[in-house]
Amino acid sequence: MSVPPPPMGLIAELTHRCPLQCAYCSNPLQMDAPKSELSTADWLRVLDEAAAIGILQVHFSGGEPMARRELKHLVAHASKVGLYTNIITSGVLLSDEAMAELLDAGIDHIQLSFQDSTAEGGDRVGGYRGGHAKKLEAARRIREAGLSLTANFVIHRQNIERVEDMIALGEALGADRMEIAHTQYYGWALLNRNALLPTRDQLNFVNGVVDAARRRLQGRIAIDYVVPDYYAARPKACMGGWGNRFINISPSGKALPCHAAETLPGFTFPSVRDHTLAEIWTDSDAFTRFRGTDWMPEVCRSCDRREIDWGGCRCQALAIAGDAALTDPACHRSPDHHLMEEAITTAAGHAPLDLVPRRLQQAIHD
Ligand code: SF4
Ligand code: FES
Repeated sequence: MSVPPPPMGLIAELTHRCPLQCAYCSNPLQMDAPKSELSTADWLRVLDEAAAIGILQVHFSGGEPMARRELKHLVAHASKVGLYTNIITSGVLLSDEAMAELLDAGIDHIQLSFQDSTAEGGDRVGGYRGGHAKKLEAARRIREAGLSLTANFVIHRQNIERVEDMIALGEALGADRMEIAHTQYYGWALLNRNALLPTRDQLNFVNGVVDAARRRLQGRIAIDYVVPDYYAARPKACMGGWGNRFINISPSGKALPCHAAETLPGFTFPSVRDHTLAEIWTDSDAFTRFRGTDWMPEVCRSCDRREIDWGGCRCQALAIAGDAALTDPACHRSPDHHLMEEAITTAAGHAPLDLVPRRLQQAIHD
């Protein structure tokens, strides 16, 4: 077997614990219990291995990565071994003291998520009273520390009319980059899809707002725009291709080609407790099964985009079409593409429902 180039990034999901309970969370429905989490020593070894195989970046994620008190040690160690360090956070735990510690540790970048432009909307979707105000403080601390700020806004049917206000908020906070990201329907978001998926008119509205903002802010603030797969004609290159660019480590140490991979039946995901990252990346069935183009069904195999989007998303093929080895139904060439249309119609027929909060399920597994 030929040795694949090393992954570009390591996604270190330090914990599934989080003070917020967003109804669109992409964490699995069955989250890793705190007692199963990797130890600090395990994570330090994983960071050493990541640098040794040529990984360039580590993204500390979760859950809420700041819920692990030793985050500052992990950032310092990652920095020491030459990894670019990014934290993907809700910001509600980013106190003055935590900010100072992370700066000392050599943090390179912080990506801060917002649930809405208003405290009322944000606190409701996040299930955390006072959370929005803490995020505003966190944004201020990041800017005052001299770090660049990426503000991430997740869009769905329950906040979509405020997208202009979200962009204005990002501007006012001094963001260098904004992500306007429609919800991706995995995990809790898939469970709550009928309450979250926008209508076509709503999508067109956001497209127009983002286009205008990009023109207005050109050269000042970059805006990344993530559209919902359900309205796409072509799928996204999920994770940049299976086993191609990223390795995702779950809180309990399972190495996953993507954050939702545990939904796929028939896989055994190797643990970093038992295997090195090099073994996992190069040899494991979990990372090689859908790598490249050999696994593809005919519709992708003969397509000139097969090495651009890599057949789309395996988890979405499973969730929508029932088989992870099929073409992503987001693709208009997929025989299952009509299922996306049907999901849109079904969601449009639902009034916004009560959202299923994460903590109901979390309580079962803690
Ligand atoms: Fe991508 Fe396959 Fe669709 Fe071609 S047929 S665009 S490779 S998903
Ligand atoms: Fe798993 Fe796309 S989320 S391959």
